[in-house]
Amino acid sequence: MCSMSSSSTTMASAKKILVKHMKVIGGGLMGTSIAQVAVATDHTVVLVNQTEDILVKSRKGIEESLQKVAKKKFVENLKGADKFVTKTLSSILTRMDAASMVHSTDLVVEAIVENLQMTNELFKRLGKFAVEHTLFASNTSSLQVTSLANSTTRQDQFAGLHFFNPVPLMKLVEVIETPMTSQKTFGSLLDLSKALGKHPVASKDIPGFIMNHLLVPYLIEAVRLYERGDMSKEDVNTAMKLGAGYPMGPFECLDYVRLDTMKFILDGWHEMDSKNPLFQPSPSLNKLVAE
Ligand code: 3HC
Repeated sequence: MCSMSSSSTTMASAKKILVKHMKVIGGGLMGTSIAQVAVATDHTVVLVNQTEDILVKSRKGIEESLQKVAKKKFVENLKGADKFVTKTLSSILTRMDAASMVHSTDLVVEAIVENLQMTNELFKRLGKFAVEHTLFASNTSSLQVTSLANSTTRQDQFAGLHFFNPVPLMKLVEVIETPMTSQKTFGSLLDLSKALGKHPVASKDIPGFIMNHLLVPYLIEAVRLYERGDMSKEDVNTAMKLGAGYPMGPFECLDYVRLDTMKFILDGWHEMDSKNPLFQPSPSLNKLVAE
C-alpha cells in the first residue's frame, strides 16, 4: 500500500511539465521584468511585442534593472557586473510575431493590456499554433482567469500567474486556478514559480486574487479620505509607513502601480459587481487618468 501510494505520487509529479522555454507576450513593465527574471534563472525566453519601439524600450528597462541587481551581486567587481548584465541581456530574444513564436514552447505568459476582448483574441489565436503540451498563463490583475481560459481549447492547461512590481525584488507569485485547471498544470506552475526564485501562493479566481483583493480597496480608501478632505496625502503616506511599517504610503504605491492600472482594475470589478461599496469608481482617480 505504502509503496503504491509513493509510486503514484512520483508518477503524478513525473507528469508535470518542467518549464524551461517561455514566451512572454507584452513588452510593458510586467512582461519585460517577468522575462528578465526568467532569463536570470536559466530559462530560455522570447519576449514578444507587436511594436519594435516598445521592444527597444523593454531592453533598456531590463538593462537598467540588471545594473541595479549587478550592483548588489558584484560588489567591487565592475568587470563581473558588466559581464553579468551583457550575458543576461543577450540571452533574451525579442520578436514581433507571437504566433510564429509559440510552436515550441513549454509556457506562454500573457502580460498585455488589461482588456478582456484583446486578451481573449490573443489566446484564441495562439491556441491554434501552440504545441499540445504548452501551458497558457495570464499575468492579469483584474480579468477573470476563467473567462480567459474559456477563449481557448486548453482550459485544463490554463491558469493565472500573477507577479508583483518590481518583479526582480518582489518574492510573491500568485498561481490562480480556475475550476478547469488541471492539477498537472497547477503543480507545474507552482514548480516554475519556485524555479524563478519566487514564493508561490495558491488562489481561487476571485477579483484581485489575494493581494489585490486586499490592496486595491485599501489604496482606493486612501483616495476617498483625501477626496473627503479628511487629511493630506502626505500625512496618509507617513501614517502607513511609520504606523504600519509599509515600505510605501498608499499614494506613493498608487503612483508606483500606475493610476491607469488601478482604474482598469476598479472599473473591471465595478462592472462585475456594481453594488459592492469597495468597487465604486473614484472621481479623482478618473480625473487624473483622463488628464
Ligand atoms: N530592479 C532591480 N533592483 C531594483 C529595482 C528594480 N526594478 N527597483 C529597486 N531596486 C533595488 C535598488 O537598486 C535598491 O538597491 P540597493 O539596496 O542596493 O540600493 C533597492 O532595490 C531598494 O530600492 P530603493 O532604494 O530605490 O527604494 P526602496 O528601499 O523604497 O525600495 C521598493 C523600493 C522595493 C519598490 C519598496 O519601496 C517596496 O517594496 N514598495 C512596495 C511595492 C509594492 O507594493 N509592490 C506591489 C505593487 S501591486 C502589484 O504589483 C500588483 C499589480 O497587479 C497591480
